[in-house]
Amino acid sequence: MKLFYNTWYRYGTPPWVGPARSDLTGLVESGTLRPCRVIDLGCGVGDNAVFLAQHGFEVTAVDFAAAAIAKAKEKARQAGVEVNFLVDDLTRLTKVSGEFDLLVDYGVFDDLSARQRAAYVQQVVPLAGPGAKFLLWCFEWEPRLWERAVISVLPFDGLALMPGEAERWFGTDFDVERISGESGLRGWPRGWAVYLMTRH
Ligand SMILES: C[S@@+](CC[C@H](N)C(=O)[O-])C[C@H]1O[C@@H](n2cnc3c(N)ncnc32)[C@H](O)[C@@H]1O
Repeated sequence: MKLFYNTWYRYGTPPWVGPARSDLTGLVESGTLRPCRVIDLGCGVGDNAVFLAQHGFEVTAVDFAAAAIAKAKEKARQAGVEVNFLVDDLTRLTKVSGEFDLLVDYGVFDDLSARQRAAYVQQVVPLAGPGAKFLLWCFEWEPRLWERAVISVLPFDGLALMPGEAERWFGTDFDVERISGESGLRGWPRGWAVYLMTRH
């Protein structure tokens, strides 16, 4: 999985690379999310992290693909902002520590297998200080049998969260609010969701 991501970032541009995501920019521009200590979990080439730094946030951004972090650092340099970029694995952190006021995950948790999701929850929840917010964007639908078969031969470990799964993973530690999403879409993806969770 790590090799797959690293190779894609090094030699190409994965399809999810693009400007900072609209749900995040909307929440920042409306003042719902205000400058604070934020960690971007699985930051890829850093567009969300750079956007947050440009809007006054103190940003740490982590990804296990070193090639993505190299591109992200260059983006931050060109934008003239400071971001603490780290290469680390969210299922067994060795470099990231401390507490943050805001956690952001765009399309990482849903990529993980059930075992990796459990490890991620164990590693990531302690990073959320009291009252911290956690913005989670994920694919969300119940995978059909053929989709499970396809996933089993691809380098991805996961595809989408099942409806209700975000609450099951995070409901013990966070108040979980689904703030946006679509389901039953024709084509692919078949659904997606945005959660804004608050640590209790
Ligand atoms: C679908 S991409 C999304 C990237 C970025 N959040 C964005 O919105 O463009 C998933 C990202 O998660 C990273 N990733 C996947 N599993 C990871 C893990 N266990 N630890 C750290 N990063 C991981 C991948 O390298 C990739 O950059």
